[in-house]
Amino acid sequence: MARYSEEQIRALGLAREALPKHVAIIMDGNGRWAKQRRLPRSAGHRAGVDRLRGIIRMSSDLGVASLTLYAFSTENWRRPSDEVGTLMALLIEYFTKEIDELFANGVRIRIIGAYEDFAAPVRAVIERAMKRTEANTGLNLNIALNYGSRAEILRAANLAMRQALAEGKREITADMLEACLYTAGQPEVDLLIRTSGEQRASNFLLYQISYAEFLFPAEYWPDFSDEAYLAALRAYGRRSRRFGGLEEDA
Ligand code: IPE
Ligand code: IPE
Ligand code: MG
Repeated sequence: MARYSEEQIRALGLAREALPKHVAIIMDGNGRWAKQRRLPRSAGHRAGVDRLRGIIRMSSDLGVASLTLYAFSTENWRRPSDEVGTLMALLIEYFTKEIDELFANGVRIRIIGAYEDFAAPVRAVIERAMKRTEANTGLNLNIALNYGSRAEILRAANLAMRQALAEGKREITADMLEACLYTAGQPEVDLLIRTSGEQRASNFLLYQISYAEFLFPAEYWPDFSDEAYLAALRAYGRRSRRFGGLEEDA
């Protein structure tokens, strides 16, 4: 894996210290991308999957610690069954085709969400991908599948409560709760990107985005190029993050 040098990062118009440690992306607009081309929605999803390689590669090369991608929400079961089926088939195909390269690049794959609800072949392929890459130390790639933030927080609260009871405590702490989130041990989300111009959270990482910067690029996800991603990272670098305090140089 070839991490960019300080100089290469600067040549891209970025600065290492102004890069987000954790980027979360709501990959939206596959359907509209397809419609614009008079193609079936499935073609949009396929084109969307094709964008993953570049975005993952760029994140890894830039030294981003965690990248969390929203691939299937708990609400996406409301879609027609043939569309859900297409998404599942694409998932299996993606992991089967890409796992070697992801492994070679040191990527560590985590699935966040209730993936145990998926059919056995889907479960098998994602469990294999996680197991194969679990000792990798490069980019943490979290793929949100059957993910919903409210369900995640409720699950974490229950896990933390059980732990508290077992230890004879009457309250859970923030540390206990955070340790039970799917993203435990990873940096907080610094940057949330939602493509396609929609400006809503759609039940994604509600706890983890508390102090994130939000960007809503207009491109549909299949059109979100490496260059568009770099532009988003540059825009992030220009934001002033105060965390409730005052400007550092004020
Ligand atoms: C995002 O694209 C992919 C998933 C939700 C799986 P959409 O399928 O939501 O595309 P639009 O919003 O209909 O354009
Ligand atoms: C959010 O997109 C979920 C994913 C990108 C996987 P949706 O297209 O499902 O969200 P809504 O329905 O516009 O809120
Ligand atoms: Mg959508």
